[in-house]
Order: sequence, then structure tokens, then C-alpha cells
Amino acid sequence: MRRSSLPRKDTLDHLTRLYQASDDPWDHRTSTYEAGKYAATLSALGPGPFREVLEIGCGNGTFAGQLAPRCTRLTVMDCIPGAIGSARRALAPLAQVTVIEGAAPQDLPRLRPDLVVLSEVLYFLTPDEIAELGRWLRDHATGPVIAVNWTGPTDEPLDGASAVALLARVLGPGATDLHDGFRIDRFDPSG
Ligand SMILES: C[S@@+](CC[C@H](N)C(=O)[O-])C[C@H]1O[C@@H](n2cnc3c(N)ncnc32)[C@H](O)[C@@H]1O
Repeated sequence: MRRSSLPRKDTLDHLTRLYQASDDPWDHRTSTYEAGKYAATLSALGPGPFREVLEIGCGNGTFAGQLAPRCTRLTVMDCIPGAIGSARRALAPLAQVTVIEGAAPQDLPRLRPDLVVLSEVLYFLTPDEIAELGRWLRDHATGPVIAVNWTGPTDEPLDGASAVALLARVLGPGATDLHDGFRIDRFDPSG
């Protein structure tokens, strides 16, 4: 596993504090916004089945639980131990799901996924990390990369639009679907 550098310490500290205060810091299990976002994301993905899926930044596993029935194998990763603990508990009954603790792009697994989901995670990365992630996707993804992002301001240096633009520098332009409060961008690095 490569560990060339770590994500920004202030970002990790911020995320760690959020998961220490709650196992559902963004109300993924209960909010109407999240339910609408998940429904739109599943609709954008289509029914599958997908052979090898990777979700980066899975949080407590709420979306992964909805995605899993469309996947033969689903690997989910998150860089915060509190999130990973919750995701492991939530996804334990689903035999096709593997939960790994690690940060993208440093700890990306050895996979050739035919679907990659980046839901509300890109803007936590630095521009260099997004570029490295984009290169990994270009070299490893055999199917679409779906980026979902809140369109309002974030607490991070990047917002959703600027993070997607940085990914597009590596992957080429995606197809953007605008919704109320979020956007879904689809990239096809495998052509
Ligand atoms: C806002 S939550 C989104 C959770 C889920 N994808 C969803 O949309 O419901 C963002 C998650 O990304 C994780 N994250 C942030 N930077 C990451 C990185 N570099 N690698 C892996 N996970 C990361 C955070 O710990 C957090 O759990």
C-alpha cells in the first residue's frame, strides 16, 4: 500500500471530531436531502449488475447499503476510523461488501472497478490528491466514475464545482446533471 503523503491534517482532525460527536454527522440516515441525492445517484448509475464497485469516502455506509444489491462485489473505503466502525456494523450482513480503512489516493486498493462512486468526498482532497486520484482512475477504472457533490459552499478550500473541474483536468469533461442542491457528474475514463 502506498503512503507517499497523508491527507491534510486539519481535514483529518475536522473529520475525526465530527465522527467523535456523532456516527451520522451529515444525517445520511434521516435527511430528505440525502434520500433524494441517493435516489438520483442510483438512477444515474442504472440497475447494474456491476462486477467490481469502489465507493471512496463511504462515511457510515448508508449509501453503500442501497448500492450493494446492484453489485457482485462492493469495496468501500473511508479515512476516518469512526466512520469505518459504523460502516462495518451497517454493512456486516452484506456478504458482497468489503470495508477498508484508508485515504484516497494514498491507500487505493488493487482493483479494476467497473464503477467508482465519489459521493461528497472530492472537496476534502487537495488539488494534488485529486490529480493523483484522477490518474489512478484513468489507469484502473474499466467503467464509469460518478461524482456527486453539494453545490453550495463547503467548509473546505474547494467546493464541489472546483473539485469536479480538477478531476476533469485529468479525466476530460464529464456529463453534468444538475439537481436541487447537488450535481452528478459522470466520467468515462475507459472510453
Ligand atoms: C460527506 S461524507 C459522504 C459520505 C457518503 N459518500 C455519502 O455521500 O453519503 C464524506 C466522507 O468522505 C470521507 N473522506 C474524506 N476524505 C477522504 C479521503 N481522502 N479518502 C477517503 N475518505 C475520505 C470522510 O471521512 C467522510 O466520511
